[in-house]
Amino acid sequence: MVAASEITTEIAGLGARAEAMLSELAKISTEPQRLIRLFLSPEHRKAADLIAGWMREAGMTVTEDALGTVRGHWRPELKQRLLIGSHIDTVIDAGKYDGPLGVVVGILAVRELAARSIELPFGIDVLAFGDEEGSRFRTTLAGSSACAGVFDRASLAFPDRNGVTLGDAIKAYGKNIEDIEAAAYDPADVAGYVEVHIEQGPVLEAEMLPLGVVTGIVGQSRMRVVVLGDAGHAGTVPMRMRHDALAGAAELMLAIEQTAVENESDGMVATVGRIEASPGATNVIPGRVGFSLEFRSSTDTKRKAAIEQIKADAQRMAVRRRLEFAFEPFHETNTTACTPFMQDMFADAISSLGYRPVRLASGAGHDAQVMAKLCPTAMLFVRCKGGISHNPAEYASEADMGLAIAALARFIQAFAKKGSA
Ligand code: GLV
Ligand code: MN
Ligand code: MN
Repeated sequence: MVAASEITTEIAGLGARAEAMLSELAKISTEPQRLIRLFLSPEHRKAADLIAGWMREAGMTVTEDALGTVRGHWRPELKQRLLIGSHIDTVIDAGKYDGPLGVVVGILAVRELAARSIELPFGIDVLAFGDEEGSRFRTTLAGSSACAGVFDRASLAFPDRNGVTLGDAIKAYGKNIEDIEAAAYDPADVAGYVEVHIEQGPVLEAEMLPLGVVTGIVGQSRMRVVVLGDAGHAGTVPMRMRHDALAGAAELMLAIEQTAVENESDGMVATVGRIEASPGATNVIPGRVGFSLEFRSSTDTKRKAAIEQIKADAQRMAVRRRLEFAFEPFHETNTTACTPFMQDMFADAISSLGYRPVRLASGAGHDAQVMAKLCPTAMLFVRCKGGISHNPAEYASEADMGLAIAALARFIQAFAKKGSA
């Protein structure tokens, strides 16, 4: 086994290569002016093919599972696998680093190890998942859920905005829903899962550090809230006789905001990110409103209690305004801790590169949350400018990305040593 210190990582060159790959991927978008790459779309297909080509160049064989997850296999003959993954789908009007960075860093780290003929007691699978953002269907983390063996078949019926269900989209992508279960790894074959991701927050920049070790990932509850009133003429129905669904929904949204503010010390955040008012005309009182609601917090019990409080607020609001309402949950992930010994290995890798290994929690969701149900899991964060993410201004420097590749390569070697110790 070659010692970690013997890897001569040409960090600047690696970072430049990562940037070039990310720029090439970012050209694959539904719209020329905005980066949009949705799960199981033609753009997903193109990105998957590009990534498969890079995996082959790095010495991997490539397969694809029923949810379109591209899997690059290094040393496929070895039964034990270390998994390195992230996602290649995007939010609407995305930056180019959220997701693809982890895939590109994984490919380049494997390329480094292969180029130096480093022997490991396990093979590596680099996984490019297609559904972390949940931008197309209400599902999120579908690809990693299939790999972890926890895919929920009920989500096959979820429609996108055009009424195409997830099940139909899988077929249109050339896959078979009967093969989804076969995508699951056998836990006995998996040594661990690691994910490199931009921080998407301001901590590392404030600390003037390029890399950080993730301690855990916040839990999330996502749902759709529907408020029903009576549509009516905006000119003739007096204010006191209205059953305005949008006014009721607006009241509820302020209560949601207030609840999250009151629980801020728990890292609680709540977001209404999408709203539809029907019939949606200037001169019609809204009769029906649907909005998305997402709560995140570092304590599952507090998050669940906050949702119960909002339901009670909704009940009071509905009685007073004579409206009806419904909460339709569609995604729930508990707070997930990263595996301590793997955190320590990332910390050591960062120290070996000459930096203080700061530890921080993730407020964003990641495929690692689901993969933690399969195997020991760890994440490495990379500093991003201004903490900006889910925005085209997202930026990580070549130098920091190069360091992330070097840290991952060192982590892999340390992980191999532990296994053989
Ligand atoms: C993923 O980016 C999420 O945290 O919503
Ligand atoms: Mn992401
Ligand atoms: Mn994201």
